[in-house]
Amino acid sequence: MSIIEKAPAKINLGLDIAGKRADGYHDLSMLMVSVDLNDYITVSEAEGSSIIIESNSLRMPLNEKNDVYKAALLLKKRCNVDAGVKITVEKRIPICAGLGGGSTDAAATLRALNKFWGLHLPDETLLDLGFTIGSDVPYCIGGGCALVSGKGEIVEPLEVSLSAWVVLVKPDFGVSTPSVFRDISPSISRVDISALREAAEAGDYQQLLCHMGNSLEDITIARKPFIQKVKDRLLKCGADTALMTGSGPTVFALCQSEKKADRLVNSMKGFCKTVYKVRML
Ligand code: C5P
Repeated sequence: MSIIEKAPAKINLGLDIAGKRADGYHDLSMLMVSVDLNDYITVSEAEGSSIIIESNSLRMPLNEKNDVYKAALLLKKRCNVDAGVKITVEKRIPICAGLGGGSTDAAATLRALNKFWGLHLPDETLLDLGFTIGSDVPYCIGGGCALVSGKGEIVEPLEVSLSAWVVLVKPDFGVSTPSVFRDISPSISRVDISALREAAEAGDYQQLLCHMGNSLEDITIARKPFIQKVKDRLLKCGADTALMTGSGPTVFALCQSEKKADRLVNSMKGFCKTVYKVRML
């Protein structure tokens, strides 16, 4: 028997840094939304009590450093599961991109094994376990549109009816999240997440565009000016807005017509190899 779980990527419609905490982490406020670019996690039985990871990606460690492995081990220990498990990760979401690929895989592993082993743990427990793996994992347990705060552990799902085409442009380099967070200064630009939330809940696309923003964008662009070029080009080609997601480097553009999204994809392809046209989920 095996179980397949879909692991969608996320984008940040808003990311605000409210301040630095005593533990060195930051208080965040983020409006996140899932998009239909997915990894797939398949879990099946393995001999003994081993955790075996397989993947089509050559860029991912297949050992205990992998967040998928960490998720399986956590659940095994927490629920005293003796059985072995093979986890196959079909990677489609680019790695180190700001699209939450590692976090969504870890969350999907928790969901899949919760079913596979018949554990019946509630989402809140999966969320707590996920938080010990990474700050974006709690959000990824439920996905969709949500307001995320604290260090990432406070997740409030939102009822919104947003619909837009999303064009994702991933430059050919990765960005280290801890190094971006290290460069945060008191003069960082702020984002009004409450206004953004209001716009999202009202389904007011124009207001949404007005309030979108990412406090980390200036920091990553200062190191990788190419990201600004991607944004400029997307806007020049007719995007309604263009914003970096997470700590970067992926930039996403929003537009309401599919024709426009297709035009954006075509004009970005000569500029960057990795371009996707997706929908918000
Ligand atoms: O939790 P995760 O491993 O995803 O976080 C990556 C890095 O992002 C942390 O090492 C930290 O530097 C930074 N971070 C932060 N405050 C948060 C979440 C992440 O400073 N709330």
